[in-house]
Amino acid sequence: MRTVKPVAADRMPALLRAMPKAELHMHIEGSLEPEQMFAFAQRNGVALKFPSAQAVREAYVFDNLQSFLDIYHAGTLVLKTEQDFYDMACAYLQRAQADNVTHTELFFDTQTHTGHGLSAEIVVNGLHRACMDAPAKFGMTASLILCFLRHLSEEEAFECLEQVQPLRDKIVGIGLASSEVGHPPEKFAKVFARARQLGYRLVAHAGEEGPPAYIWSALDVLKVERIDHGVQSMQDKALMQRLAQDRIPLTVCPLSNLKLCVYPSLTQHAIGRMLEAGMVATINSDDPAYFGGYINENFTQTFSALQLGAQQAYQLALNSFDASFIEPSERARHIDKLNAVFDSFQ
Ligand code: ADE
Ligand code: ZN
Repeated sequence: MRTVKPVAADRMPALLRAMPKAELHMHIEGSLEPEQMFAFAQRNGVALKFPSAQAVREAYVFDNLQSFLDIYHAGTLVLKTEQDFYDMACAYLQRAQADNVTHTELFFDTQTHTGHGLSAEIVVNGLHRACMDAPAKFGMTASLILCFLRHLSEEEAFECLEQVQPLRDKIVGIGLASSEVGHPPEKFAKVFARARQLGYRLVAHAGEEGPPAYIWSALDVLKVERIDHGVQSMQDKALMQRLAQDRIPLTVCPLSNLKLCVYPSLTQHAIGRMLEAGMVATINSDDPAYFGGYINENFTQTFSALQLGAQQAYQLALNSFDASFIEPSERARHIDKLNAVFDSFQ
Protein backbone atom coordinates (compact mmCIF):
# COMPACT_ATOMS: atom_id res chain seq x y z
CA MET A 1 0.00 0.00 0.00
CA ARG A 2 1.26 3.48 -0.82
CA THR A 3 2.28 5.89 1.90
CA VAL A 4 0.25 9.08 1.73
CA LYS A 5 1.20 12.61 2.83
CA PRO A 6 0.06 13.51 6.35
CA VAL A 7 -2.96 15.83 6.52
CA ALA A 8 -3.63 18.30 9.37
CA ALA A 9 -6.41 17.19 11.74
CA ASP A 10 -8.62 20.16 10.81
CA ARG A 11 -8.40 19.16 7.11
CA MET A 12 -9.28 15.50 7.70
CA PRO A 13 -13.08 15.95 7.39
CA ALA A 14 -12.57 17.57 3.96
CA LEU A 15 -10.31 14.71 2.85
CA LEU A 16 -12.75 12.09 4.13
CA ARG A 17 -15.61 13.74 2.26
CA ALA A 18 -13.64 14.22 -0.96
CA MET A 19 -12.19 10.73 -1.28
CA PRO A 20 -14.01 8.26 -3.53
CA LYS A 21 -15.27 5.24 -1.65
CA ALA A 22 -17.42 2.14 -2.02
CA GLU A 23 -20.30 1.47 0.38
CA LEU A 24 -20.81 -2.28 0.90
CA HIS A 25 -23.09 -2.51 3.93
CA MET A 26 -26.24 -0.45 3.62
CA HIS A 27 -29.75 -1.89 3.99
CA ILE A 28 -31.88 0.04 1.55
CA GLU A 29 -34.90 -0.16 3.85
CA GLY A 30 -32.66 1.48 6.50
CA SER A 31 -32.21 4.53 4.28
CA LEU A 32 -35.92 5.40 4.49
CA GLU A 33 -35.97 8.87 6.08
CA PRO A 34 -39.03 9.74 8.24
CA GLU A 35 -40.18 12.43 5.77
CA GLN A 36 -40.13 9.88 2.95
CA MET A 37 -41.91 7.37 5.21
CA PHE A 38 -44.74 9.90 5.58
CA ALA A 39 -44.81 10.62 1.84
CA PHE A 40 -45.10 6.88 0.99
CA ALA A 41 -47.68 6.37 3.77
CA GLN A 42 -49.79 9.16 2.28
CA ARG A 43 -49.59 8.00 -1.31
CA ASN A 44 -50.33 4.40 -0.33
CA GLY A 45 -53.05 5.16 2.23
CA VAL A 46 -51.13 3.61 5.15
CA ALA A 47 -51.74 4.96 8.67
CA LEU A 48 -48.63 5.69 10.75
CA LYS A 49 -48.78 5.64 14.53
CA PHE A 50 -46.60 8.77 14.76
CA PRO A 51 -47.99 12.31 14.28
CA SER A 52 -44.89 13.73 12.52
CA ALA A 53 -41.48 12.95 11.04
CA GLN A 54 -39.94 14.61 14.10
CA ALA A 55 -41.85 12.22 16.40
CA VAL A 56 -40.57 9.27 14.34
CA ARG A 57 -36.98 10.51 14.76
CA GLU A 58 -37.47 10.92 18.50
CA ALA A 59 -38.48 7.25 18.72
CA TYR A 60 -35.09 6.17 17.34
CA VAL A 61 -33.51 5.33 20.69
CA PHE A 62 -32.32 1.72 20.80
CA ASP A 63 -30.93 -0.61 23.50
CA ASN A 64 -29.73 -3.32 21.14
CA LEU A 65 -30.21 -4.81 17.66
CA GLN A 66 -33.66 -6.25 18.38
CA SER A 67 -35.11 -2.97 19.66
CA PHE A 68 -34.01 -1.38 16.37
CA LEU A 69 -35.31 -4.23 14.17
CA ASP A 70 -38.80 -3.92 15.67
CA ILE A 71 -39.08 -0.24 14.63
CA TYR A 72 -37.30 -0.84 11.31
CA HIS A 73 -39.78 -3.53 10.30
CA ALA A 74 -42.71 -1.24 11.20
CA GLY A 75 -41.23 1.41 8.86
CA THR A 76 -41.22 -1.00 5.91
CA LEU A 77 -45.05 -1.22 5.99
CA VAL A 78 -45.32 2.00 3.94
CA LEU A 79 -43.59 0.38 0.92
CA LYS A 80 -46.14 -0.99 -1.52
CA THR A 81 -45.20 -0.47 -5.17
CA GLU A 82 -42.26 -0.98 -7.50
CA GLN A 83 -42.08 2.82 -7.77
CA ASP A 84 -41.69 3.09 -3.96
CA PHE A 85 -38.65 0.80 -4.08
CA TYR A 86 -37.24 2.71 -7.05
CA ASP A 87 -37.75 6.09 -5.35
CA MET A 88 -36.30 4.90 -2.04
CA ALA A 89 -33.18 3.58 -3.79
CA CYS A 90 -32.77 6.77 -5.85
CA ALA A 91 -32.99 8.90 -2.69
CA TYR A 92 -30.16 6.85 -1.18
CA LEU A 93 -28.06 6.94 -4.35
CA GLN A 94 -28.35 10.72 -4.48
CA ARG A 95 -27.11 11.02 -0.90
CA ALA A 96 -24.33 8.53 -1.59
CA GLN A 97 -23.23 10.53 -4.62
CA ALA A 98 -23.01 13.64 -2.41
CA ASP A 99 -20.68 11.62 -0.14
CA ASN A 100 -18.46 10.66 -3.11
CA VAL A 101 -19.53 7.03 -3.08
CA THR A 102 -18.56 5.74 -6.53
CA HIS A 103 -19.83 2.17 -6.09
CA THR A 104 -22.36 0.60 -3.74
CA GLU A 105 -23.72 -2.88 -3.06
CA LEU A 106 -27.18 -2.52 -1.54
CA PHE A 107 -28.64 -4.98 0.93
CA PHE A 108 -32.33 -5.66 0.70
CA ASP A 109 -34.62 -8.45 1.77
CA THR A 110 -37.73 -9.76 0.12
CA GLN A 111 -39.01 -11.74 3.11
CA THR A 112 -40.10 -8.62 5.03
CA HIS A 113 -42.15 -7.49 2.03
CA THR A 114 -43.53 -10.85 0.92
CA GLY A 115 -44.60 -11.18 4.59
CA HIS A 116 -46.75 -8.06 3.96
CA GLY A 117 -48.29 -9.50 0.80
CA LEU A 118 -45.97 -7.94 -1.82
CA SER A 119 -44.31 -10.03 -4.52
CA ALA A 120 -40.53 -10.45 -4.71
CA GLU A 121 -40.70 -9.02 -8.28
CA ILE A 122 -41.99 -5.65 -7.08
CA VAL A 123 -39.07 -5.33 -4.68
CA VAL A 124 -36.30 -6.57 -6.97
CA ASN A 125 -37.52 -4.81 -10.12
CA GLY A 126 -37.87 -1.43 -8.40
CA LEU A 127 -34.44 -1.62 -6.76
CA HIS A 128 -32.75 -3.00 -9.87
CA ARG A 129 -34.12 -0.24 -12.08
CA ALA A 130 -32.55 2.30 -9.71
CA CYS A 131 -29.22 0.42 -9.89
CA MET A 132 -29.38 0.46 -13.70
CA ASP A 133 -30.05 4.22 -13.67
CA ALA A 134 -27.27 4.91 -11.14
CA PRO A 135 -24.41 5.59 -13.62
CA ALA A 136 -26.35 8.13 -15.69
CA LYS A 137 -28.32 9.71 -12.84
CA PHE A 138 -25.83 9.59 -9.98
CA GLY A 139 -22.40 8.97 -11.52
CA MET A 140 -21.90 5.69 -9.69
CA THR A 141 -22.40 1.94 -10.02
CA ALA A 142 -24.77 -0.05 -7.82
CA SER A 143 -25.70 -3.70 -7.38
CA LEU A 144 -27.96 -5.77 -5.12
CA ILE A 145 -27.37 -8.32 -2.35
CA LEU A 146 -30.42 -10.22 -1.07
CA CYS A 147 -30.28 -10.95 2.67
CA PHE A 148 -32.15 -13.85 4.18
CA LEU A 149 -33.77 -13.04 7.51
CA ARG A 150 -32.08 -15.27 10.06
CA HIS A 151 -34.93 -15.18 12.63
CA LEU A 152 -36.96 -17.13 10.04
CA SER A 153 -36.33 -20.77 9.13
CA GLU A 154 -33.91 -22.20 6.57
CA GLU A 155 -36.93 -23.58 4.74
CA GLU A 156 -38.26 -20.04 4.35
CA ALA A 157 -34.86 -18.90 3.08
CA PHE A 158 -35.05 -21.69 0.45
CA GLU A 159 -38.50 -20.40 -0.60
CA CYS A 160 -37.10 -16.89 -0.85
CA LEU A 161 -34.20 -18.11 -3.03
CA GLU A 162 -36.67 -19.98 -5.27
CA GLN A 163 -38.84 -16.87 -5.68
CA VAL A 164 -35.95 -14.79 -6.99
CA GLN A 165 -34.65 -17.39 -9.47
CA PRO A 166 -36.50 -15.72 -12.38
CA LEU A 167 -34.69 -12.51 -11.32
CA ARG A 168 -31.28 -14.19 -10.91
CA ASP A 169 -29.36 -11.73 -13.09
CA LYS A 170 -30.53 -8.74 -11.08
CA ILE A 171 -28.85 -9.92 -7.84
CA VAL A 172 -25.07 -10.31 -7.34
CA GLY A 173 -24.99 -11.82 -3.90
CA ILE A 174 -26.72 -13.42 -0.96
CA GLY A 175 -26.35 -12.27 2.66
CA LEU A 176 -27.76 -12.99 6.11
CA ALA A 177 -29.30 -10.30 8.35
CA SER A 178 -31.76 -9.67 11.22
CA SER A 179 -31.62 -10.95 14.83
CA GLU A 180 -28.21 -12.54 15.28
CA VAL A 181 -27.96 -14.07 18.74
CA GLY A 182 -29.67 -17.48 18.80
CA HIS A 183 -29.58 -17.76 15.01
CA PRO A 184 -26.07 -18.98 14.17
CA PRO A 185 -24.84 -19.13 10.58
CA GLU A 186 -24.95 -22.95 10.51
CA LYS A 187 -28.76 -22.75 10.62
CA PHE A 188 -28.44 -21.68 6.94
CA ALA A 189 -25.70 -24.11 5.81
CA LYS A 190 -27.78 -25.85 3.13
CA VAL A 191 -29.33 -22.76 1.58
CA PHE A 192 -25.96 -21.00 1.39
CA ALA A 193 -24.49 -24.10 -0.29
CA ARG A 194 -27.30 -23.90 -2.83
CA ALA A 195 -26.74 -20.16 -3.38
CA ARG A 196 -23.03 -20.87 -3.96
CA GLN A 197 -23.93 -23.53 -6.56
CA LEU A 198 -26.12 -20.94 -8.29
CA GLY A 199 -23.12 -18.62 -8.58
CA TYR A 200 -24.05 -15.93 -6.06
CA ARG A 201 -21.34 -14.06 -4.15
CA LEU A 202 -21.79 -14.75 -0.41
CA VAL A 203 -21.66 -12.49 2.64
CA ALA A 204 -23.18 -12.69 6.16
CA HIS A 205 -23.70 -10.50 9.19
CA ALA A 206 -21.62 -12.11 11.94
CA GLY A 207 -20.07 -10.85 15.16
CA GLU A 208 -22.22 -7.72 15.42
CA GLU A 209 -23.63 -8.82 18.79
CA GLY A 210 -22.98 -12.55 18.35
CA PRO A 211 -19.81 -14.34 19.48
CA PRO A 212 -16.60 -14.98 17.49
CA ALA A 213 -17.87 -18.55 16.94
CA TYR A 214 -20.50 -17.13 14.56
CA ILE A 215 -17.74 -15.52 12.47
CA TRP A 216 -15.84 -18.82 12.31
CA SER A 217 -18.96 -20.62 11.12
CA ALA A 218 -19.85 -17.90 8.61
CA LEU A 219 -16.38 -18.50 7.11
CA ASP A 220 -16.09 -22.27 7.44
CA VAL A 221 -19.71 -23.45 7.11
CA LEU A 222 -21.35 -20.78 4.93
CA LYS A 223 -18.07 -20.04 3.09
CA VAL A 224 -18.78 -16.34 2.83
CA GLU A 225 -16.33 -13.96 1.17
CA ARG A 226 -17.01 -10.97 3.43
CA ILE A 227 -18.16 -10.57 7.01
CA ASP A 228 -20.67 -7.83 7.80
CA HIS A 229 -19.76 -6.10 11.08
CA GLY A 230 -17.36 -8.71 12.55
CA VAL A 231 -16.29 -6.41 15.40
CA GLN A 232 -16.60 -9.25 17.96
CA SER A 233 -13.63 -10.91 16.21
CA MET A 234 -11.48 -8.64 18.39
CA GLN A 235 -12.10 -11.07 21.29
CA ASP A 236 -10.35 -13.93 19.47
CA LYS A 237 -6.69 -13.54 18.40
CA ALA A 238 -6.69 -16.65 16.19
CA LEU A 239 -9.75 -15.34 14.36
CA MET A 240 -8.16 -11.91 13.87
CA GLN A 241 -5.15 -13.65 12.32
CA ARG A 242 -7.33 -15.77 10.09
CA LEU A 243 -9.27 -12.72 8.84
CA ALA A 244 -6.05 -10.77 8.21
CA GLN A 245 -4.17 -13.65 6.56
CA ASP A 246 -7.03 -14.64 4.28
CA ARG A 247 -7.81 -10.97 3.57
CA ILE A 248 -11.48 -11.45 4.45
CA PRO A 249 -13.08 -7.99 4.31
CA LEU A 250 -15.15 -6.73 7.23
CA THR A 251 -17.89 -4.20 6.54
CA VAL A 252 -17.85 -2.24 9.78
CA CYS A 253 -20.57 0.30 10.70
CA PRO A 254 -19.40 2.55 13.55
CA LEU A 255 -22.51 4.71 14.07
CA SER A 256 -24.68 1.59 13.98
CA ASN A 257 -22.48 0.02 16.66
CA LEU A 258 -22.81 3.16 18.75
CA LYS A 259 -26.61 3.46 18.38
CA LEU A 260 -27.16 -0.25 19.07
CA CYS A 261 -24.91 -0.08 22.17
CA VAL A 262 -22.22 -2.44 20.87
CA TYR A 263 -19.75 0.23 22.11
CA PRO A 264 -20.50 2.87 24.76
CA SER A 265 -18.64 5.51 22.74
CA LEU A 266 -16.86 5.79 19.38
CA THR A 267 -13.61 6.35 21.28
CA GLN A 268 -13.80 2.63 22.21
CA HIS A 269 -14.51 1.48 18.66
CA ALA A 270 -12.22 -1.27 17.30
CA ILE A 271 -11.79 0.00 13.72
CA GLY A 272 -8.35 1.54 14.32
CA ARG A 273 -7.13 -1.65 16.00
CA MET A 274 -8.53 -3.72 13.15
CA LEU A 275 -6.44 -1.77 10.64
CA GLU A 276 -3.36 -2.08 12.85
CA ALA A 277 -3.89 -5.85 12.92
CA GLY A 278 -3.87 -5.92 9.11
CA MET A 279 -7.58 -6.71 8.80
CA VAL A 280 -9.36 -5.55 5.62
CA ALA A 281 -11.85 -3.31 7.41
CA THR A 282 -14.19 -0.87 5.67
CA ILE A 283 -16.54 1.86 6.98
CA ASN A 284 -20.24 1.79 6.08
CA SER A 285 -23.54 3.24 7.29
CA ASP A 286 -25.77 0.12 7.79
CA ASP A 287 -29.14 1.89 8.29
CA PRO A 288 -28.28 5.58 7.93
CA ALA A 289 -31.79 6.99 8.41
CA TYR A 290 -31.94 5.30 11.82
CA PHE A 291 -28.39 5.65 13.09
CA GLY A 292 -27.69 9.35 12.63
CA GLY A 293 -25.66 9.54 9.48
CA TYR A 294 -24.63 8.44 6.01
CA ILE A 295 -21.18 7.15 5.16
CA ASN A 296 -19.28 10.43 5.43
CA GLU A 297 -20.77 11.06 8.85
CA ASN A 298 -19.52 7.60 9.86
CA PHE A 299 -16.05 8.49 8.59
CA THR A 300 -15.81 11.96 10.13
CA GLN A 301 -17.18 11.02 13.57
CA THR A 302 -15.03 7.88 13.79
CA PHE A 303 -11.84 9.64 12.66
CA SER A 304 -12.43 12.46 15.12
CA ALA A 305 -13.13 10.08 18.04
CA LEU A 306 -10.13 7.85 17.33
CA GLN A 307 -7.82 10.56 15.97
CA LEU A 308 -7.13 8.63 12.79
CA GLY A 309 -5.24 10.23 9.90
CA ALA A 310 -4.79 10.29 6.13
CA GLN A 311 -3.05 6.91 5.96
CA GLN A 312 -6.02 5.17 7.58
CA ALA A 313 -8.40 7.11 5.33
CA TYR A 314 -6.55 5.88 2.26
CA GLN A 315 -6.44 2.32 3.62
CA LEU A 316 -10.19 2.27 4.33
CA ALA A 317 -11.11 3.65 0.89
CA LEU A 318 -8.73 1.22 -0.83
CA ASN A 319 -10.14 -1.65 1.23
CA SER A 320 -13.67 -0.69 0.15
CA PHE A 321 -12.78 -1.14 -3.51
CA ASP A 322 -10.71 -4.29 -2.87
CA ALA A 323 -13.63 -5.79 -0.92
CA SER A 324 -16.25 -4.95 -3.54
CA PHE A 325 -17.64 -7.38 -6.10
CA ILE A 326 -16.78 -5.18 -9.08
CA GLU A 327 -14.71 -6.40 -12.04
CA PRO A 328 -10.92 -5.93 -11.72
CA SER A 329 -10.77 -3.37 -14.56
CA GLU A 330 -13.54 -1.35 -12.90
CA ARG A 331 -11.75 -1.62 -9.57
CA ALA A 332 -8.57 -0.16 -11.09
CA ARG A 333 -10.56 2.79 -12.43
CA HIS A 334 -11.93 3.56 -8.94
CA ILE A 335 -8.48 3.24 -7.36
CA ASP A 336 -6.97 5.59 -9.95
CA LYS A 337 -9.55 8.20 -8.94
CA LEU A 338 -8.76 7.59 -5.28
CA ASN A 339 -5.04 8.09 -5.93
CA ALA A 340 -5.73 11.30 -7.86
CA VAL A 341 -7.66 12.77 -4.91
CA PHE A 342 -4.86 11.95 -2.47
CA ASP A 343 -2.22 13.30 -4.91
CA SER A 344 -3.92 16.65 -5.29
CA PHE A 345 -5.35 17.14 -1.79
CA GLN A 346 -3.96 20.28 -0.08
N1 ADE B 1 -30.94 -5.41 9.21
C1 ADE B 1 -30.81 -4.09 9.07
N2 ADE B 1 -29.78 -3.64 9.82
C2 ADE B 1 -29.25 -4.71 10.45
C3 ADE B 1 -28.18 -4.91 11.33
N3 ADE B 1 -27.42 -3.89 11.79
N4 ADE B 1 -27.94 -6.15 11.77
C4 ADE B 1 -28.70 -7.16 11.37
N5 ADE B 1 -29.70 -7.03 10.52
C5 ADE B 1 -29.99 -5.82 10.06
ZN1 ZN C 1 -26.40 -4.57 8.52
